[in-house]
Amino acid sequence: MIKTAILGIGTVGAGTAEVLTKNKDVIARRAGQEIEVKYILCRKPRPDHPLADRIVHDFEVIVGDPEIAVVAECIGGATVAYEYDKRCLLAGKSVVTSNKELVAKHGMELTAIARDKGVNFLFEGSVGGGIPILRPIVQCLAANEITSVCGILNGTTNYILTEMIQCGKTFDQALKEAQEKGYAELDPTADVEGIDAGRKISILADLCFGKNVAPEEVKTVGITAIASADIEYARILGYKIKLLGRALRTGPNSVTAFVEPHLISKSNPIANIDGVMNGISVKGDAVGETMFFGPGAGALPTASAVAADVIDCVREPNTRKYLGWWPSEPGYVTDPDLISSRWLVRTGADLSGIGAAFGNARFITAPAGAQGEYAFVTDYMSRAALDRRAAGMDVRAVYRILD
Ligand SMILES: NC(=O)c1ccc[n+]([C@@H]2O[C@H](COP(=O)([O-])OP(=O)(O)OC[C@H]3O[C@@H](n4cnc5c(N)ncnc54)[C@H](OP(=O)(O)O)[C@@H]3O)[C@@H](O)[C@H]2O)c1
Repeated sequence: MIKTAILGIGTVGAGTAEVLTKNKDVIARRAGQEIEVKYILCRKPRPDHPLADRIVHDFEVIVGDPEIAVVAECIGGATVAYEYDKRCLLAGKSVVTSNKELVAKHGMELTAIARDKGVNFLFEGSVGGGIPILRPIVQCLAANEITSVCGILNGTTNYILTEMIQCGKTFDQALKEAQEKGYAELDPTADVEGIDAGRKISILADLCFGKNVAPEEVKTVGITAIASADIEYARILGYKIKLLGRALRTGPNSVTAFVEPHLISKSNPIANIDGVMNGISVKGDAVGETMFFGPGAGALPTASAVAADVIDCVREPNTRKYLGWWPSEPGYVTDPDLISSRWLVRTGADLSGIGAAFGNARFITAPAGAQGEYAFVTDYMSRAALDRRAAGMDVRAVYRILD
């Protein structure tokens, strides 16, 4: 029997405890031995919790217990969780987590410590919640040169956009509803500003391309400025607006990673991933395009990934999983504004000004509520080139287009 500890008993911690206890028998068969939750760490007393007898409030009890082989960190953030995860690894315990903030920021260091100590630092649940995505990238697609990864990486913003597209709600109405349903935090900044998706695309870029892309190198644009008229222009064109995280190879030793709202063609499978679901496309030179789809958050879906990581550590205790990446050189991460795309532009400029700057632009009929302006689709150009051409113009919105 292997003994584990769960740090934190919030949404993911409680889900992980539930999965490990409810599915104990099937897990024991797959892991090759029973897995017992010996401790659960939290701050508040929880006398009524079904596993109240395992609850402790002192981390030292866990890190100092040689019986604990695997720790599931479900605290979140990159302060206490960083200290605890690092100390557990240094104490020779494997650590698993769904903490994307921590992995994006400190993953390279923590995977290196795990490597040195001959233990595992696994984080399948940190991207895409319950969707298997990191293992497929590093194992099943290991023979490929990966060229791009692109996806809907945040369920909250996808829910808000879906409500705006399907039900004609404004951003504020859809956000309020998401908060009432528990899909959005009271402070939704990390979701609606694209920060959460930025952390996830940073982790995907690390694993797909093998070198560090720090979260602060990921340019992020959120969804707060998306107007109902933008949604309508997209519809008229046969596109949807989706918040996409993308990472691409831009040269033999360079990549780019960014998060921004895109107009995506309705014929692209990612355009049809609605509500709180996540979906990720990975392109490899041998396999072509692969798609991963499923619940990107929630107690049990995320616990499914966290508990599977625990099982993986137990099943082959003497085999360290290869999951990690290397430092990058200055200039490795390039500016996404240099990537060529077609663009939707909304502007209050007159026709002659648009013609002079953009030549034969393809104009779109304005929907109701967006009179007194022009909207058009450009030829392929970088955002930097677009901004140069549109200098001095009254530009109201610009969206990158993905077919
Ligand atoms: N929620 C999701 O659907 C989801 C999906 C994917 C990934 N994640 C990630 O999973 C992680 C956990 O998220 P969550 O939603 O489960 O968080 P949560 O509900 O806020 O739970 C956090 C837990 O950590 C405990 N905790 C916080 N600080 C602590 C400390 N200093 N010492 C001991 N315990 C402490 C809290 O205990 P007390 O209540 O006693 O303070 C609480 O039980 C985050 O990194 C998140 O980004 C979440």
